[in-house]
Amino acid sequence: MTAPERDDAVLRALRAAAPSTVSGEALAAELGVSRVAVGKRIGVLRAQGYGIEAAAGQGYRLVSAPDLPLPAEVRPLLASSGWLPLGGGVTGSTNDDAKRLAREGAPEGTVVLAGEQTGGRGRLGREWASPPGGVYLSAVLRPDLAPSETAPLPLVVGVGVARALEHLGAEVRLKWPNDVYCADGRKVAGILVEMSAEAERVEWLVAGIGVNVRADRTSAPGACFLDEVVAQPAGLARVAAAVLDGLAEALRDFEAGGFDALRPDYERRAWLTSRDVVVRDIRGDVRASGRVAGVDESGRLVLEGPQGPAVVATGEVTLRVDV
Ligand code: BTN
Repeated sequence: MTAPERDDAVLRALRAAAPSTVSGEALAAELGVSRVAVGKRIGVLRAQGYGIEAAAGQGYRLVSAPDLPLPAEVRPLLASSGWLPLGGGVTGSTNDDAKRLAREGAPEGTVVLAGEQTGGRGRLGREWASPPGGVYLSAVLRPDLAPSETAPLPLVVGVGVARALEHLGAEVRLKWPNDVYCADGRKVAGILVEMSAEAERVEWLVAGIGVNVRADRTSAPGACFLDEVVAQPAGLARVAAAVLDGLAEALRDFEAGGFDALRPDYERRAWLTSRDVVVRDIRGDVRASGRVAGVDESGRLVLEGPQGPAVVATGEVTLRVDV
């Protein structure tokens, strides 16, 4: 039994027994470890936020579980295989953690999860507010692609997240390149794709995804929270599993048929189509403006401008009415 399998087995046994107890002896026998090792594992689970009572002479009773995207909670909810979830508590930035692991050789599918980030990063060098009540995750991918072929990947990840949030009951839109909006135009999820590549091939790619799930008094007024737009709020582990399943499916589609396989799915949810927009670069200088016609086969934004069609590969898009 691997360490993650042992973690899952302890929780499964505690859950199966609840509200009764399960003896340390029975747990040790099931896991093939000593009772001391079981005691250590129980200590780790308590540190993660699980309420586990120890009843003298009877064993352990699970009384509460934290609402966090912990690997032991996420793993059993995944439909897709191949994810190797880690973390689940508080960290600086899951993208920074995943990039470090990727540099150290972590395999494709390694995922750093968090329920809170203290240094969450957004696109264009911005901060990404990451309070408790959200799902923050970063997946290490090692696609067999040349750097030039990765251009549509941020949009591919966007489609994966959109499908996941729809699966959870939300109606969503995609704002180019890959912001995920609620139907009313407030942002519910953000995506930050970072990569390391040589001239000919991608070494690794980190797909970072942050989903606003639970609103509280301090929440940013312009943000949308999944709980506001679904009939049945889902646990944070369920949201993380849905996002990873959506991501796995979108990546499979991309591998099988390129961005063309996902383009109709992107276009169907595209927030900007037929709107008048301004595109600015990172310094805020206007790069293009016009009416959005759609996205091309590489995921670039296609505008119909006063000087004819224009194609935009990067930038920050605002609606013309906003300027
Ligand atoms: C954006 O909309 O600007 C992108 C936001 C991306 C946020 C996610 S949260 C998980 C991962 N870790 C980070 O530090 N950033 C990404």
